[in-house]
Amino acid sequence: MKKLPIKLYDPTFIQKLVFNGEVIVFEKSTFINRIIETTRNHFNKIFGVTLEDFFDDNDNLAFSAKERFFFQLQNKIKKCSEIKANFSNFLKEVGFDTKYVFKDQYSLRYSPKLNGKAFGKLKPTLPHRDTWASNLFDQINFWFPIHKISAGNSIYLVPKYFKKKVENNSKSWSFEKFKKNDDYPSAPYTKINIQDNEKVSFQLDKGNILCFSGHQLHGSLQNKKQRINFETRIIYKSNLNKIIIPKNYDSNSKVVKKNWFRNITTNKYLD
Ligand SMILES: [Fe+2]
Repeated sequence: MKKLPIKLYDPTFIQKLVFNGEVIVFEKSTFINRIIETTRNHFNKIFGVTLEDFFDDNDNLAFSAKERFFFQLQNKIKKCSEIKANFSNFLKEVGFDTKYVFKDQYSLRYSPKLNGKAFGKLKPTLPHRDTWASNLFDQINFWFPIHKISAGNSIYLVPKYFKKKVENNSKSWSFEKFKKNDDYPSAPYTKINIQDNEKVSFQLDKGNILCFSGHQLHGSLQNKKQRINFETRIIYKSNLNKIIIPKNYDSNSKVVKKNWFRNITTNKYLD
């Protein structure tokens, strides 16, 4: 894991690192902190309680209300102009020229405590590469919690498999089935046995953001605490002659999800 200063001004360096299987933690970004504040303000308005009260069960809300409010919050953050502006500013802060950035939607994910009930179709994810679903091997992922988390309550990555074939169900998985069916997994996954000591996970303070390749094998860890995290993915269409993107070792789907990504400035789809 590389901890890098915020001001890099060199996206080629970021691309080279993550496409080689490295994970970057950008620390204390003002813009990420603003996104967290905005998200928590939306949370307070929609839930009528603070995030802390929600986590401590000091909210008198039925599970069905919490679930409904969470979906409202998700929709809110997808459309929020302040979040959009601050994420763009974060990308500029680390050096990306937003003219060349194609971005997936912002997504907020709730992870219940171990054996707790998930909201709707948002189940904790089994190990997967995002590229098994998107088939875009230059995809870069960004992930951060909206509160402090311990390493036992974070995402985990398995860098050991970055350059190895992993058996998976990408051949039969379909995004359309996921959209229609609550019990269908949100991504293709693998059933291989991953040892705890092969998983890399992260204690993250508020304002720190993880950056890794969409080809990196990853999944959700759960412990006694709940978690809410923010995530999105980008594709950077610049410096393409200077970088080598990850090879497809094991995606067996033929569907390329270019229409998940839109240019951050023009809103045009990736072509
Ligand atoms: Fe993922």
